[in-house]
Amino acid sequence: MSPAAATIQPASLRRARPMSRKIITLTGITTTGTPHLGNYVGAIRPAIEASHRVDVQSYYFLADYHALIKCQDPARVQRSTLEIAATWLALGLDTEHAVFYRQSDVPEIPELTWLLQCVTAKGLMNRAHAYKAAVQANEATGEGDADHGVNMGLFSYPVLMAADILMFRANKVPVGRDQVQHLEMARDIAGRFNNIYGEHFVLPEAVVDEHTAVLNGIDGRKMSKSYDNVIPLFAPQKALRKLIMKIKTNSLEPGVPKDPDTCTLFSIYRAFASADQTEAMRRRYAEGIGWGEMKGLLFEFLDAHLLEARARYDALLEAPERIEAALREGAERARLVSGPFMQQLRHSVGIRPLA
Ligand code: TRP
Repeated sequence: MSPAAATIQPASLRRARPMSRKIITLTGITTTGTPHLGNYVGAIRPAIEASHRVDVQSYYFLADYHALIKCQDPARVQRSTLEIAATWLALGLDTEHAVFYRQSDVPEIPELTWLLQCVTAKGLMNRAHAYKAAVQANEATGEGDADHGVNMGLFSYPVLMAADILMFRANKVPVGRDQVQHLEMARDIAGRFNNIYGEHFVLPEAVVDEHTAVLNGIDGRKMSKSYDNVIPLFAPQKALRKLIMKIKTNSLEPGVPKDPDTCTLFSIYRAFASADQTEAMRRRYAEGIGWGEMKGLLFEFLDAHLLEARARYDALLEAPERIEAALREGAERARLVSGPFMQQLRHSVGIRPLA
């Protein structure tokens, strides 16, 4: 920034820079469903582990504005917010260290979204996967209007996501493969803003972990809410047992050697087991463990693994005021960053006091 520009900017705005040089990681969870085993292994567990690292400042938030794009059932959005927050807290998220908040408690995020909308090319949004998929679906069904059923939330949601990320100057954003394009868009939008108004934003990077397990669901396809094949992470004991018994296997008889690497039961077991336990289970497959026995073992194993966290989860659901308080405290901390930064950004675009 030139010295002349610096003198125009009030001192209070210049102090908005973060004090530490820690790597900043940030990720959001859309509040439309109940966390399942696949979410846990693929996203929640690694994030909670990262929340304890001292060399990283992490931000985790409940993306409830994102939920509205695809879910217009208010009770479901609220319930999902409660369940996801309870899940993360029950699993031991370090909220002293990580900042854990609800997107809608940080009004600077939608405000920043507008500033970003005004530098984002419409053509960039035309290329977003989620939008293109909707258009293609319309073409496939012979729907005359290519934009049928597409709301502006869906169309411009990469801009909201860019605001989520850029607001906290995140360097690293752990996401699934399907979100990589959105990170490219966030960089593109940040670059454009920086070009016009000065270097305000850090360019974020997607972090896609190739090693985290992708779990299959009870029908053998990838565990996903959209396939209706999920095992909820904190399903009550009885329900958990029932779902595990329903997992699809082949029809090999007990005593016949089986291939662990194509088996849903084994992949779930492995996601929770130590290396030694996994090896021992491989031997059981080679010896021809029966499916009934394996399902029983898997249930006992998972249940023992989840028992304590499930009790904490159930207790939290009974005390939503504790969750609400934790989220509000998180938002207060988030706003220590977003408030001053937003003031700086407003100033940069010319939205300034006149005297
Ligand atoms: N769109 C992401 C998803 O569907 C969720 C999300 C919203 C997000 N805002 C974010 C992820 C910011 C990372 C950073 O998974």
